[in-house]
Parts: sequence; structure tokens; C-alpha cells
Amino acid sequence: MSDDRDIIVKNLSYAYPDGTPALKDVCFEIIKGENVALVGQNGAGKSTLLLHLNGVIENNNGCITIAGKQLEKKNISDIRKKVGVVFQDPDDQLFMSTVFDDVAFGPINMGFSEETVKERVKKSLQKVGLSGFEERCPHHLSFGEKKRISVATVLSMTPDILLLDEPTSNLDPGGRRNIIETLKTLDSTKIIASHDIESLLEICDKAILMDKGRVVATGRSEEILTDIELLNSHGLEAPSIVKMLGDDVIPLLRNNFDSSQIKKHEKTLKKANL
Ligand SMILES: Nc1ncnc2c1ncn2[C@@H]1O[C@H](COP(=O)(O)OP(=O)(O)OP(=O)(O)O)[C@@H](O)[C@H]1O
Ligand SMILES: [Mg+2]
Repeated sequence: MSDDRDIIVKNLSYAYPDGTPALKDVCFEIIKGENVALVGQNGAGKSTLLLHLNGVIENNNGCITIAGKQLEKKNISDIRKKVGVVFQDPDDQLFMSTVFDDVAFGPINMGFSEETVKERVKKSLQKVGLSGFEERCPHHLSFGEKKRISVATVLSMTPDILLLDEPTSNLDPGGRRNIIETLKTLDSTKIIASHDIESLLEICDKAILMDKGRVVATGRSEEILTDIELLNSHGLEAPSIVKMLGDDVIPLLRNNFDSSQIKKHEKTLKKANL
């Protein structure tokens, strides 16, 4: 029987070595090709969870299955070829002396020819809007630039599964738009941890809401991420546009707002200059 589940997490619990509990009995499944929003207030466990999914944090507690293979020490390098992770802090991602070398690192390790590596670096930098940055030193870039280069280091590997921790944080509006549009064009399975709920509504089909290490809700992103009460009760806030338009925010963000919806919200949209 074919199994279309790309990620299965069962009963995953974790406490950091100093004893801080970070994950408590986390369970969920993600189907191949799904775009999943991972939301929760600061300290909810989002980053800790993502770090488990490609084995950065090793844990014998619970069970993680990636593309049909149980995550274990012996297959971590195979799994890392399938799963690309953009860390929350770009300083954890960038370690070479030029942007080119950082973005080329993955494709070189995957054994691509010099020509293909150059092509991949060029395309990935284009996608994050930073063409021409090849010879810059990553550590001399602004935080937002570093974040965009971090995304490029993963895009250059075209992984089947992409884990993105706050991909739009600290980006200017143009940089944020570039990343959103790029993510929308990628077929890979994605988990995006973010506080930018508006961008998640635009990109994601499904949402997982965490609080204090637990998954407290899962479902369609249009249900979870527009549920003002649910978000408030877990320390989050719906974006103003959700408060203004309610459920109709989905067609607006996904570019299929019809004439009756435009008429219904005419005054609000005019006021907001949309
Ligand atoms: N290296 C660490 N050592 C000890 N505790 C940690 C460590 N990293 C994170 N924690 C704790 O684990 C819990 C989960 O943190 P995590 O970084 O996963 O949250 P998060 O949901 O990603 O938050 P944010 O929205 O701030 O990025 C928090 O209580 C945090 O203080
Ligand atoms: Mg985090």
C-alpha cells in the first residue's frame, strides 16, 4: 500500500539538558506536498520541534518518520538530504567566508558539477532577491539579508521537505514578498514556523498550533488562523485584516476575491487602501 505521509511524529517529548521541558507528547502527520503553518507564542516549542525533524536534536523519546524512514542515528545523513532546514538564527546557518560558498555548500556536497552548482547559487540568490551578493561576507550583512541568504542556502538544495523557522522575520516588505512568492512556487512539503500569520494564511493549507510544548489544535489554516478566540487564548493575535474581513480574508490573500466579496467589503478595503 502506498503511503502519502511525508512526516509522522508520534508521542515526541523533550526536555533540554538543563531540564527545561520543551515538547510534550507531540503527535501529527503531514501529507506529501502539504504546506503547514506552525504557530505558537514565544517558547511554545516550534524551533525545538523543527530541530528534531532533521536530527539536529537527537532524542530517543517518541518516534519520527520521514518519507517512510524512521529517523535514527544511522540514517540521519540520508534524511538530511531530503530535509532542508532554515534556522531561526541565520548565524547558526552561515559559516563560510563568502555568500557564494554558503549557498554552494549544499549542492557541492550533493555532488553536482561546478557548472550546476554555479547555476543553483545564481537561481537561489535571484529567488531571495539578492543577486550580486556572491562575494559578500555573510557576517557583514544586515540581519534581514542574512535571513534571506539562509533561505537561499536551502533552496539551492531543492529538498523534498523544507522546514523554515521564521523565514520572513526582520525582512523589509519587498524581501518578505520575495520569500512568500518563492515558497508558493515550490512543490516541496513545507513546515513554516512563524508569527507572520498573514503570510501563513497565504501559503499554508494546514496549521498546527502549539502552546507550552503541546500541540493544542490542528486543522485547515483558514480555520485555525482566522479563529480570533482560539489564537487569543494561546497568546497570539489574528492580523488586522482577519479582524476586518473575517473568513473572506482567504480569497483576498489567495487572489480569488469575487465581485460580491469586493462589494461587501468595499468601504473597508477603500479605507485600508487595498
Ligand atoms: N538550548 C536551550 N536550553 C534550555 N532551554 C531551551 C533551549 N532552547 C530553548 N529552550 C526552551 O525550550 C522551550 C521551547 O523553546 P523554542 O525555542 O522551541 O520555542 P519557540 O516556539 O520556537 O519560540 P519563539 O517564538 O520565541 O521562537 C522554551 O521554554 C525555551 O526557553
Ligand atoms: Mg523559535
